[in-house]
Amino acid sequence: MQDAANAAGTVVVLGASGLLGQALMHELARRGQKAVALSRRQGVDLAALPSVSALAEELDPHAPSLVVNAAAITDLAHCEERPQDAWLLHARLPGLLAHWSRCSGVPWVQVSTDHYFSGSANVLHDENAPVAPPNEYARSKFAGEALALTSPLALVLRTNIVGRRGWPALPSFAEWVLAALQGGKPFPGYTDAWASSLEAGQCAAALLDLAGAGHRGLLNVAASESVSKADFITALAQALCLDDGPMKRQHRPTPAGANGLARANALGLDVSRAQNLLGRPLPNTAAVAQALAAVFKEHHHVPA
Ligand SMILES: NC(=O)c1ccc[n+]([C@@H]2O[C@H](COP(=O)([O-])OP(=O)(O)OC[C@H]3O[C@@H](n4cnc5c(N)ncnc54)[C@H](OP(=O)(O)O)[C@@H]3O)[C@@H](O)[C@H]2O)c1
Repeated sequence: MQDAANAAGTVVVLGASGLLGQALMHELARRGQKAVALSRRQGVDLAALPSVSALAEELDPHAPSLVVNAAAITDLAHCEERPQDAWLLHARLPGLLAHWSRCSGVPWVQVSTDHYFSGSANVLHDENAPVAPPNEYARSKFAGEALALTSPLALVLRTNIVGRRGWPALPSFAEWVLAALQGGKPFPGYTDAWASSLEAGQCAAALLDLAGAGHRGLLNVAASESVSKADFITALAQALCLDDGPMKRQHRPTPAGANGLARANALGLDVSRAQNLLGRPLPNTAAVAQALAAVFKEHHHVPA
C-alpha cells in the first residue's frame, strides 16, 4: 500500500482554516510534512470551481501526494437557508475530487459527518447502519460521501470533532461550553443528544495515520464511546477544574433550536473497524476532554 501521508510529498488541505483544518496543518507540521492550505482565505472558493480542470489548476501545481477535503459549511442554518451553497461545497466538490483522483491517481480523504442518526437511545452506529439525514447539511454531506466513493482512492471518514476554531462569529461547541462554564449563568446540557466526539488534533492524527497506511472506503473515526452533551460538558469541566453547576441537565427541545431546524441527536459511531486498522484504541471521553483542556490552556483561554 502507498504510504501517502508519510511519504515525501505535499499534503493539500482544503478548508485548512477551519476547526479540523487547523488541526491537520498543525499535525502535518509536527510530522515534518509539507502542507498547502486552500480555502477562501487563500483566495480559492472551492464551491465555485466549475469543472475538474478548474480543480486541477488549483491542485496540480502542488503535486500533492494526498489531498484532504475538510472544507464545509458547518453552520446548519446557513445550509438550510441557502441549500445551493451546501450542495455545491458538500456534494459537487467531492464529485470533482473523485474525478480528479481517478485521473491523477492521487489518494484523498473526504471528511464527512455523523449527522445522520436520530432516536431515543445512545447507539453506536457502524458503517453499515441505515442513515436518515434530517436537514440540508446532512443530505448534502451524505451525497458527498456517495460521490467521493466513486473514486477507488478515496478514504471517506465519518467523524465528530470538538476543539478550538478561533472564529468569534462561529464558536465551536467546545468554545461555547467553555464560555458558558466561565460565565457562571445557567445554561442547558442536553441528556438526550449523544455523540462520540474526538478532539480535532486526535482526529487529524488518526486521519493521517489511516490515509498514510493506504486505507480506502468508508470508515468511522471518532471517540471510543458516545456520551450525552451533558456528560461531555461535565467531563470537560472536570478536565478544566471548573464547576459544571450552572449547567442544567434537560431534554433537548423538539424540533431543536430556536429556528426549528431538525437536527440529528443520536450520533454515536462504532469505531471498531478504525481501531483494528490503526492497531490502537481511539480515545475515550476523559482523554478527549483532557486533550481539549490542553488546547484551551495552550491558547490561554484558561490558566495553564
Ligand atoms: N465541527 C463539527 O462539529 C463537525 C462534526 C462532524 C463532522 N464535521 C466535518 O468535519 C469537517 C471539518 O469541519 P470543521 O468544523 O473544521 O469546519 P469549519 O471549522 O466550519 O471550517 C470549514 C472550512 O471550510 C472552508 N470553506 C467553507 N466554504 C468554503 C468555500 N466555498 N471555498 C473554500 N473553502 C471553504 C472554510 O474556510 P474559509 O472560510 O476560509 O473559506 C474553513 O476552512 C467538515 O467536513 C465537517 O462536515 C464537523
